[in-house]
Amino acid sequence: MHLKPSQFSIPSLFLPLFLLYSTIHGTLATDASLEFMDPTLPPALPSQTPKCSVLVLHQDFAGTVGSSPVTTNYTHPGDCPAPWTRVVLELSFSASGVHDQKDRVAAVWIDGAEILRTSTPFTINTAAFWKIHKDITRYTALLRRLSGGGGTVSMMLGNSNSNPPGILTANVSLHFYRGALSDKSISTAHPSVKGLYREPADLVIPISQEKASNGSSFWFQIGGNSDMPAASVVIPRNTYRAVLEIFASYHADDEFWYANPLQSEYLQGGLGQPRANGGLRQLYASIDGKFVGGHIPFAVIYPGSINPYVWSPVAAIGAFDMPTYDLEVTPFLGLLVDGQPHEIGLGVKHSQSHWLLTANLHLWVDQWSDAVEAMLVDYRAPPLRVNPHAEWRDQDGSSEIDAEGLLRFIGWVSSSKGNVTTMVRQKVTFKSQVVVQNRGTVRQVEVVNKEAMTVGANRGKNQVVGRVQLFMDAPLQLQMSTVDAAGGEAVLQNTRLYHQLEEVLNLNDNMAVSTSILTDRQDAEGTVLMHDGMPVWGGGSTKSSYKYRDENTCYLRTVDAAGGEVKNDVTSPSCAAVSTV
Ligand SMILES: *[C@@H]1O[C@H](CO)[C@@H](O)[C@H](O)[C@H]1NC(C)=O
Ligand SMILES: *[C@@H]1O[C@H](CO)[C@@H](O)[C@H](O)[C@H]1NC(C)=O
Ligand SMILES: *[C@@H]1O[C@H](CO)[C@@H](O)[C@H](O)[C@H]1NC(C)=O
Ligand SMILES: *[C@@H]1O[C@H](CO)[C@@H](O)[C@H](O)[C@H]1NC(C)=O
Repeated sequence: MHLKPSQFSIPSLFLPLFLLYSTIHGTLATDASLEFMDPTLPPALPSQTPKCSVLVLHQDFAGTVGSSPVTTNYTHPGDCPAPWTRVVLELSFSASGVHDQKDRVAAVWIDGAEILRTSTPFTINTAAFWKIHKDITRYTALLRRLSGGGGTVSMMLGNSNSNPPGILTANVSLHFYRGALSDKSISTAHPSVKGLYREPADLVIPISQEKASNGSSFWFQIGGNSDMPAASVVIPRNTYRAVLEIFASYHADDEFWYANPLQSEYLQGGLGQPRANGGLRQLYASIDGKFVGGHIPFAVIYPGSINPYVWSPVAAIGAFDMPTYDLEVTPFLGLLVDGQPHEIGLGVKHSQSHWLLTANLHLWVDQWSDAVEAMLVDYRAPPLRVNPHAEWRDQDGSSEIDAEGLLRFIGWVSSSKGNVTTMVRQKVTFKSQVVVQNRGTVRQVEVVNKEAMTVGANRGKNQVVGRVQLFMDAPLQLQMSTVDAAGGEAVLQNTRLYHQLEEVLNLNDNMAVSTSILTDRQDAEGTVLMHDGMPVWGGGSTKSSYKYRDENTCYLRTVDAAGGEVKNDVTSPSCAAVSTV
């Protein structure tokens, strides 16, 4: 779908603001509580009962900006021992009162290792509640240690309850499952492992701020392009595989990075006041200062960024469970397995203030060896080829930044599993284009974000151990028009949006060959009247469609929402008889 300016009319409303305030606040405020949702594939089957469930943390977050995370000591039920086939984190929230509650960033940690990054909805004139479920089986190493006693679970939610006032209450629960994960009659739950090896890592080491002591969190705050905080780690000498998982969220000047033009002094209204730095960012990591891989992030749209009415009650893609970014760093094990401390650094290329980053280093260790031998044999990591281009006349113009990149790393690890050579190859294609017309009042943003990633492992010359290919395609199209209202005291915005995340995964190991395709798509439009950065009146509609397909399953859920209500919510475990968007 391509949005054309002609599909889009600029309203010529100049309603007095007091009139809007009185009518809208009078009619829309209700006592009912609105449930916000993220319609994705459930991480566990509704028909399954967990072996045990633990309410870990219950907390009211009022004025918590700048304070430390809330931490509790964890106690595991005695009759629920490891191993578990699946573990699900449930985070439930309620937002009190009828006050507007702005979007906030929040996270959950186990013993200082982040396991969920989320953003809260922008509730308008209503009490609200929502639940997030995340499969956290890949953190089994942390959970096993936690269940042994002495561990802690922490949560942080940076809420300012002064303007607007409001309290967010959160419960963190863990559900532990044993036994089979699928059921013949219902679709299987989403597979949690996207990588080569089916087993979760033996160790998960947090790469984060050492201590969440003086008002800061475990997060590293990245102030710009040249910031690269690092954590020192010593890894077991018998590690034979390593994956670095990066958590990221963006704030302040970079909240709308994906829609930033290269030049912006004439832009007004719309997506805040973007800084002119272009719409390209690259998350990356380093070992002892050496670049070891990166990803261009998926543009998670925070509910306060683009017409909050559009995200009521369906959250934007990834807003409730923000995507994390895996780097296969096995080829670099030769740099790490000497028993000495090494610096793992994190950064965001082309960034502005500020990003909040942490990472988890997932390690698989060889029980049958005291130490492995390993060496990096091929390293090709040229910087992204970036091509910026901008043309402006007065307030109108166009700005484009595109990027291409190809990385290749090869390294071998010799352990009791043999001498295995791992090859990582990644190709990225990115473009962000911003066109401004009608004296700065109409803005169109188009983002192309594609990535092809291959990880292959061979034993000896040509015995294939496994191969995984992941193709990601995340297009975004956004059109926004603004017009002054109430004599310039407020701004009326019209927005249309198309956003999609498609992931195709081909997995080939000695157990099976399989392909899975995930397509998560949203089409939305809406109108909002903004006054002092707060929505005072508006409406929106969203169509979302989430489809997951593999050899055995097809799961489709479509949700249509309009005017703050779900109009249509259809789940099809077989993908049949549901019309797609
Ligand atoms: C948690 O455990 C630590 C160490 O045993 C103890 O000092 C602390 O008081 C405990 N916290 C709570 C809330 O029980
Ligand atoms: C949290 O758990 C408590 C105790 O089970 C329950 O009363 C409360 O409603 C829950 N709150 C939320 C937001 O889920
Ligand atoms: C926290 O303490 C560290 C070390 O004492 C200091 O470098 C840092 O600036 C402090 N951070 C804040 C937010 O006060
Ligand atoms: C592992 O294999 C690579 C290339 O196949 C070879 O260069 C290296 O010497 C081998 N390592 C050991 C410890 O055998």
